[in-house]
Amino acid sequence: METKHICIMSTDDNPMGLKEVAEILQKGGTVGIPTETVYGLAANAYDPDAVARIFAAKGRPQDNPLIVHIADINDLPKIAAEIPETAKKLAAAFWPGPLTMVLKRTERIPAIISAGLDTVAVRMPSNEVARAIINCSGLPLAAPSANLSGRPSPTTAKHVVDDLDGKIDAIVMSKDCSVGVESTVISLVDGKKRLLRPGGITHEQLESVIGKVEIDPSVLSSELVAEVSSPGMKYKHYSPKTKIVIIEADSQMFCDYVNRSVENCAAMCFSEDKSKISKPTIVYGNEADDMSQARELFDALRLTDSLNVDVVYAHSPKKTGVGLAVYNRMLRAAAFEVICL
Ligand code: TXA
Ligand code: MG
Repeated sequence: METKHICIMSTDDNPMGLKEVAEILQKGGTVGIPTETVYGLAANAYDPDAVARIFAAKGRPQDNPLIVHIADINDLPKIAAEIPETAKKLAAAFWPGPLTMVLKRTERIPAIISAGLDTVAVRMPSNEVARAIINCSGLPLAAPSANLSGRPSPTTAKHVVDDLDGKIDAIVMSKDCSVGVESTVISLVDGKKRLLRPGGITHEQLESVIGKVEIDPSVLSSELVAEVSSPGMKYKHYSPKTKIVIIEADSQMFCDYVNRSVENCAAMCFSEDKSKISKPTIVYGNEADDMSQARELFDALRLTDSLNVDVVYAHSPKKTGVGLAVYNRMLRAAAFEVICL
């Protein structure tokens, strides 16, 4: 199929384009849209056939449920059957923004969205173009990340074109994503407070609003403990074709390790490491700035395939703040291979 490229840089940039996107969605089409986290592949959340097209275009396993995106808190009761006090507090603190809450779903949510679970993941993005698209279409939008299943998530419109051109109805060509990793996912069902996926809203921020939040064991390990609670985390993810190995070490030890390696290798490193490394490098942010790491991670992972090396050694981020989200994604890209020096 031919994929339309529709340029919408800001809400007042291209009103006709916005209308066109809304019409495609209303007719059951699939559209790559920007959000502040990563680009999403959107369709009408109420239309099971439209949602099925998302799964088909991405090659996504049917047992991995999707996030529903809304732009107005008044639409939440249409999606979620139970809204606990904790959800209200988190929405007040972090919506619109990179936070997804898993709640009991209403009957209106088709089973295909929730992969047969009785829950639904819902979030309100802050990206103004995403919000305009939701408002203009008048629909809640189901949207996973707009990458081919297994590939690094898309943080630029070009990443979406690279993965999905010819497979979906349209791509909104907009700005690069400001957060760069997917939203934080927290489950609030059955009175529990469980972090299923770290993201732009940190564990520390969540706890400051609702008290103790348990971190699901799958966040930092390959255990499939969360098989039922967060199906998406069980798949090999975010992977370039090139093998990635994480190195946990300080800057000097990391650089020495890479320089001494006899492999045909490259480094995925912080800007501070770069001048100390005698092999090819791809920089992903600054060591002291986890936000910059999040913003640049997925583009860096995609670039590794252009280096023609056998292995890329990635300098581990810290596991606090947004660094926890960066580490969680990197761990999956590396198929859990970590060397601690
Ligand atoms: O930032 C984001 O969240 C992006 C943008 C486009 O909004 N979307 C995104 O969607 O990352 P996706 O499909 O790539 O990841 C959704 C995650 C998966 O790990 C999935 O298993 C989990 O959310 N999830 C969805 N519904 C769930 C549910 N009912 N229970 C538990 N986990 C759920
Ligand atoms: Mg994804």
